[in-house]
Amino acid sequence: MLTPELRHWFANDIWKERRGGSRVVRDGTVLYRRPSDGVTTIEADARLYKWARDGLGASVPRVIRQDSDAILLPVINGRRASDILRTLQEKDRSGDGNARSLASSIVDELAGHLRQFQSLSPSDGIKYEAYPVAQKLIEATSNILGMLDMNGLNEFERNVLEKISSRYAAASTVIFRDLNPNNVIIACGLFSASESAMAFNYVDFSSAKYLVPREDDWATLRLHQTTMWISGRSIAENVETFGTSQTALCALLVRFHRLALRKAAYKVAHPRGYLHRYESDPERHYFGVLRSAVNRLCQTGVISPQETSSLLGVFQRIDTSDLDVPEFDAFLDERTNVHDEGL
Ligand SMILES: Nc1ncnc2c1ncn2[C@@H]1O[C@H](COP(=O)(O)OP(=O)(O)OP(=O)(O)O)[C@@H](O)[C@H]1O
Ligand SMILES: [Mg+2]
Repeated sequence: MLTPELRHWFANDIWKERRGGSRVVRDGTVLYRRPSDGVTTIEADARLYKWARDGLGASVPRVIRQDSDAILLPVINGRRASDILRTLQEKDRSGDGNARSLASSIVDELAGHLRQFQSLSPSDGIKYEAYPVAQKLIEATSNILGMLDMNGLNEFERNVLEKISSRYAAASTVIFRDLNPNNVIIACGLFSASESAMAFNYVDFSSAKYLVPREDDWATLRLHQTTMWISGRSIAENVETFGTSQTALCALLVRFHRLALRKAAYKVAHPRGYLHRYESDPERHYFGVLRSAVNRLCQTGVISPQETSSLLGVFQRIDTSDLDVPEFDAFLDERTNVHDEGL
């Protein structure tokens, strides 16, 4: 049931569109207005964008102006890398022989960006904090169980999640890029999608105030639904290749839990938003990666067989992959205070 507490959590921690980026005209020029997400302040957001541009060059947009509640950036005309990769996957399925190598070159470019990003020196004036892993993993799991009207975590289950959180926290030494292919806009020629015609624009540095394990961003880059298909291998094989260290597996688990759970929460609380954002990137893949990661954590001795089955049980309970998208929007149709803040 969507209690006021769960509604509040959804609105503040999950509901992405509340930020409400838009195009505005200032002094005769169309700009992209990016308000705060309510977590990272505008000062920090602007500082992080400027720091990233200083370190990475013109592939990061220049902050043109900073207002009290938003930063203004040049409008980038292009498509998100995630959408382009999805289109390339469809083309590959229908026999286009070039689609896979083009997708692979896009991921290579993203990997180059991530390597460069992870070698940057920290920004002056930013107070770095450890990624709030326990909150994201344990509190969020309890919340989604509540939304699904299921029993909360028992002590044993909570302890397993705490064990993984503390491994993750102990290895949190690098700045979080959040290199989801949604955070890359590719401008390409109108008629050609060739490699040479693509210009990469990297956006969204709000989370670059968090410290995470080095492997965290690599997990998203390698195993995201829009990139993993390029390998032609199964989820289990990809997880095995990726998760050669205990830290890598804990990072993979934390990040994919976040990706899976956000979609699950949308499906229950805000189905219209789910259809808009996730219909072409549903949660099944992410829960599949989670199950493989749990099995690898067991094989590598991080968790015992009993802890493994307990964790698999938790993920089974919060897995909404087979749940139909509800017809009515439980969250918005309840006419709550947060009703009008955009889809
Ligand atoms: N400078 C820009 N010009 C044009 N569109 C932009 C610009 N910056 C961001 N966008 C668009 O807005 C989307 C969201 O931006 P951003 O990543 O900064 O916010 P977010 O709250 O993290 O949302 P999301 O989950 O969609 O990534 C981008 O994927 C892109 O489509
Ligand atoms: Mg983003």
